[in-house]
Parts: sequence; C-alpha cells; structure tokens
Amino acid sequence: MTKYVINGKRELHGEVTISGAKNAAVAIIPAAILVNGVCRIENIPQISDVTKMLEIMRELGAKIKLIDRSSVEIDCTDIRTTKAPYEMARSIRASYYLIGALLGRFHQAQVSLPGGCYFGVRPIDQHIKGFKAVGAEVEVQNGFVVANAENGLRGANVYLDVVSVGATINIMLAAVLADGMTVIENAAKEPHIVDLANFLNSMGANISGAGTDVIKIRGVKEITGGTYSIIPDQIEAGTYMVATAAAGGEVLIKNVIPKHLECISAKLLEMGVEITEFDDSVLVRRTGTLNRTNVKTLPYPGFPTDMQPQAVVLLCFANGTSLVTESVWDNRYRYVDELKRMGANIQVDGKVAVIEGCGALTGAPIRACDLRAGAAMVVAGLAADGMTEVEDVSHIERGYEDIVKKLRGIGADITRVEMPDGVELSKAQ
Ligand code: EPU
Repeated sequence: MTKYVINGKRELHGEVTISGAKNAAVAIIPAAILVNGVCRIENIPQISDVTKMLEIMRELGAKIKLIDRSSVEIDCTDIRTTKAPYEMARSIRASYYLIGALLGRFHQAQVSLPGGCYFGVRPIDQHIKGFKAVGAEVEVQNGFVVANAENGLRGANVYLDVVSVGATINIMLAAVLADGMTVIENAAKEPHIVDLANFLNSMGANISGAGTDVIKIRGVKEITGGTYSIIPDQIEAGTYMVATAAAGGEVLIKNVIPKHLECISAKLLEMGVEITEFDDSVLVRRTGTLNRTNVKTLPYPGFPTDMQPQAVVLLCFANGTSLVTESVWDNRYRYVDELKRMGANIQVDGKVAVIEGCGALTGAPIRACDLRAGAAMVVAGLAADGMTEVEDVSHIERGYEDIVKKLRGIGADITRVEMPDGVELSKAQ
C-alpha cells in the first residue's frame, strides 16, 4: 500500500511545469493504429493510464520504442490481432478508443467494456450508435464489445444525444478512413478533441470543426507517419492553481495554454485569487481570504467536472456558503465523506453540494476514491492544519505525473510512503 503523508498549512512558492494531457494522450496513442507508418508522439505524461495503454498496444502487435522520458515512436504496421486482452483493457477507461481505431483500420474490434473511475452509470450507447451509423454491427458478448464492418465503413451523420467526449473521439477514430464524409453534431469541444484532430490531420486525415459542436470528417484512403506533440494538461494545471489558492502563496504554472484554463481562472478570480496570464504560463497568487462562490460543471468551455472535487475542497476554505452543481456525472461526490473526516461541513443532495466554508480543515487519514477526488484530498491536506495521510494513491498516479516531486518543488511537505500491506503508518514510525 502506498500513501502520501502531508504536513499541511505551508504556503506554496516557486514554479511547476505541467505535463502532457492525459486525456489527449490516451486518445492519441490508440489513434496511432490508424497510421500506416511510424508516428512519433512527444510530451506524453508518465502516468499509469498511459503505461497501460502502451502495454495493450504492444499486446496487439504495435512496436513501441521509448525515445526519452516523454516521447515514443509507435509503428502499427504489424498489428496481429484486433482483440484486446480482456483484463488489461478493463483496467482503464480509455481502452474504448481501441474500438474506434481498430474498427477504422481493420473493420473489426473486440475490446472489453471499459473500467475507470466510478461516477455512477457510465454508458457507451452513444459510441455504439456512432459505430452503427458508419456501418458496423456492434454487440456485447462475454464482456467484450464486438464490432464488425465486413463491407467497410461509410460516412454518416451522427447526432449525439448527450455531449460525450468519449463518443466524439471514438466516432472520429472510426470515421478517419471511412468512405465519404461523417458529420458529428452536438460534439464535445474539449481541448483534447482538438488535439486529437490536429494529430490525425498532421498525419493526413481531413477533419474540420474540432472545437465546435459540429465536426466533419472526410474519409481518406490512408494516413501516414509524422511527429506530434501533445498539449499540456488542463486539469493538472487547474489542480496546481487550486492547490496554490488553497494553501496560499505564489506559484508560476509553466507549460500551459492559458485559454484552456479560463474556465478555472474565472472562478479563482471571483474567489479573490490573483491570476496573471503569460503566453504559456499563469502566475497564481493568494494572500488574503477566499470569497464564497457557486460552481456548475459543464462540458468545455464550462467549468470542468474533472476540477469539481478540487473546487469543493477550495470552497471549504472560503468565507460563507457555496453551491456546487455537478451536471456531467450522476455520482461524483463520494469523496465528501473523506473531507468530513477533516472537519468539512458539506451537505450533498443529488447533484448539488452545499459547502459551509469554515476557513480551516484539520489533517486526518483519508483515502483517494478516484483520480480527481484523490488530487482534491492532496489539496485538502496541503491546506489543512496538521498531518494528513492519503491512502489508495494509485488512483492519483493514474493521471498526475510526479505529483509528489512537483509539490515538493514548490515547498509542500509531502512524502510518498510505501508500506507493506497491513502495517499502520503510526506504528511504523
Ligand atoms: N454518456 C452517455 N452515453 C455515452 C457516453 C456518455 O450517456 O455513450 C454520458 C455520461 O454518462 C456522462 C456524460 O455523457 O453523463 C459525459 O460523458 P463523457 O462521454 O463525456 O465522458 P468520458 O468520455 O467517459 C471523459 C474523461 C473524463 C471526464 C469526462 C467529462 C477520458 C478518458 N475521460 O470521460 O475524465 O470526466 O470526459 O469531461 O477522457 C478524468 O480524467 O478524471 C476523467 C474521469
């Protein structure tokens, strides 16, 4: 078991560099299946979801060459199977992108239903609707999604009933090499959708409209190799912004696209945090008290659901009562019970959380329920009085590269402690 031990209430000062975007990397890596040739992908974050995705690709027959810490070369010329190993694919959410990519290139795919963080029901009906629209037969058999398009794929119009990041990406992947034009309406607009389109276009695809709610994919015969660098991670950057706001201090957050952070910056400004934008960095400074505010999560360019737990933690330190409305996921407040152990006063009713800002939390043993909730627990520990132990940090390491090292670099007192199972930290010291 691995824990983070945090001695809180220390201001953060200095500079932190943001890694490549997790949710772009886990889409772009499987997109390499569509490429006839070698593609080099740079600025890949070193996180366990990426490692698992690369392992699955290797199992399928892709040649993966690690160039340096954040770059790989992928050659999918010799893919030998379109069936992904069940357990490996089940362990991450983004494995569902293998369906779109394999279907697009080989007209068949077998991939287990995906895993990932639990936020209530996570259907993939819109992905399946898209695959069927472009000519595939899709069914779930023995835990696998089995997709076949014996006669190839042809362009089609797909209107998404809900704005879905995953469905938008998966339909784009399936459509790149299809015959004719596919139009996705009510598409998601997240930065990683634009990044995937840019990656595919740089390899020869013909995609327009990414970043708007209508994306047009004109099928091409093949796409060939090239080099592409992944965008910085919006949510990692947002997490360090909130950490600075919660703990106080002044941190320059480097290697970001400030435009992607505006939805987060706007809330922090309302709360009295100072934000200065530069070309590829933002300076976050918090010296005074934090004002209450309300937050509603929405698809991009709204406030990201993946920043909701971090925002709730920050509002615990604000003056007054704040309302947070989660409008993307049904059940994304499971971590609130952990914050209550630290003295938080939060009432959850369905999708709304009412946070009575108390200005202080006290350290406690808590656990990371999922990736972003885990990051939020770390933020809580950094700003709380006393010692916090965060358990189950493997969730956090799925999506945050070197979080302990980066936080230590800006003055946090945080240590990663590996414990033999069954040993309690207090007894080990
Ligand atoms: N939905 C459907 N049917 C579908 C797909 C989605 O009803 O076929 C619903 C979902 O139940 C949800 C909403 O649509 O209510 C949005 O889901 P979306 O498909 O956009 O989510 P996702 O693709 O499964 C990605 C990110 C999540 C992030 C969401 C929303 C990846 C690998 N995951 O998930 O990121 O919360 O978009 O922005 O890109 C994270 O990084 O911590 C994370 C969970």
